[in-house]
Amino acid sequence: MKQEQPKTPHKRNPFTAVPRAVARSVRSFAKRHRLSVTAKTTIMYAVIFALVFTGLGVLLVFSYRTYLINRVGAEEARDMLTPLAWLVLILLPLGLAVTLSLGGLVIRGMLTPVKKMIATAKEIDTASLSTRIESGNSEDELSDLAAILNDMLDRLQTAFERQNRFISDVSHELRTPIAVVQGYSELLTRWGLSKPEVLQEAIEAIGSEARNMKNLVEKLLFLARADKKSLQTQPESFHIDELINEIVNETRLISNKEILAGQIESNTLYADRALIKQAIRVFVENSLKYSGPDGRVTLSCYADEGRCAVVVSDNGIGISETDLPHVFERFYKADDARRRDGGSAGLGLAIAKWIADAHKADLDISSKPGIGTTVRLLI
Ligand SMILES: Nc1ncnc2c1ncn2[C@@H]1O[C@H](COP(=O)(O)OP(=O)(O)O)[C@@H](O)[C@H]1O
Ligand SMILES: [Mg+2]
Repeated sequence: MKQEQPKTPHKRNPFTAVPRAVARSVRSFAKRHRLSVTAKTTIMYAVIFALVFTGLGVLLVFSYRTYLINRVGAEEARDMLTPLAWLVLILLPLGLAVTLSLGGLVIRGMLTPVKKMIATAKEIDTASLSTRIESGNSEDELSDLAAILNDMLDRLQTAFERQNRFISDVSHELRTPIAVVQGYSELLTRWGLSKPEVLQEAIEAIGSEARNMKNLVEKLLFLARADKKSLQTQPESFHIDELINEIVNETRLISNKEILAGQIESNTLYADRALIKQAIRVFVENSLKYSGPDGRVTLSCYADEGRCAVVVSDNGIGISETDLPHVFERFYKADDARRRDGGSAGLGLAIAKWIADAHKADLDISSKPGIGTTVRLLI
């Protein structure tokens, strides 16, 4: 049978037991009653003051007592000590009161910025993202915290506004093709069966708008994946001259305009071939779209300062100086006439820019209205 172990009584050390018990009860009190930082700090200072003052008082009275007993005898020493003991006893609560009130005031003043931060943070929601936290005049951890929170709010506000603009741009882009499809379907319902020319026109228009929407959705998906960072480049070695010739031949098949292979130097690139092709096609499509019937598009590739330059130039309508800095922005289209063009959403160059950045390549456009545009990808 298992022998029961005699319980050894837990020995308590009276010197540590008292402070431990005090700490325990303070902790449980603080848990039960929610105390402000001001109250906690003031109480802590008051307790420290009381302990130090009492200790010093007792030390002073006892050492003076020993001194007096040696000098004047026990009887007289007691008489002389009584007023001193009273003084210590009266000064203790007085000192405590001063510590509590002055300490409380100072700490409350120091914590005012925190209260303001809490009040401001409570007010901030998506409708008032422009509100900022006051950092006050002090240069301390609290003003650092306010600055960090304001930085975070700046970033959130920018992201939120970008998101809103994106949603309204997408809705705007989809509204036209949807309206066209709806219009033609109503036309078909009314006349389609009796008028074959209406039927033909409607089928073509609906097909073309469906292609536009598919294009737009594909571009949006690309950018969404790029933003989520789930789009990875898959680099491989390939000959850029072969790629350029491939694009020249493919473009000749779909366009009647003049597509020229300019200076084509053979060069091996280590990059994501499919993405680079996608970017070059954006430039070529733009050159075709923004040039007249006598449009001429020239593609070149050559070595440039240890890198490879891919250049697409055209003799099209060009881009004005005011539009040029914005053409890489999402949904940016240069002017109203182009904005009405159903086939463009203003996303092509934004995608090309992402591809260039993903390859740490430089992308720049130079253009002269009425003369032409040159896009240069330096990779
Ligand atoms: N080769 C070019 N010639 C003239 N304008 C251009 C050319 N390439 C780009 N642009 C201008 O830059 C804008 C943005 O181009 P892009 O992002 O490809 O959008 P999209 O072609 O869908 O309009 C175009 O709307 C156009 O105004
Ligand atoms: Mg384009």
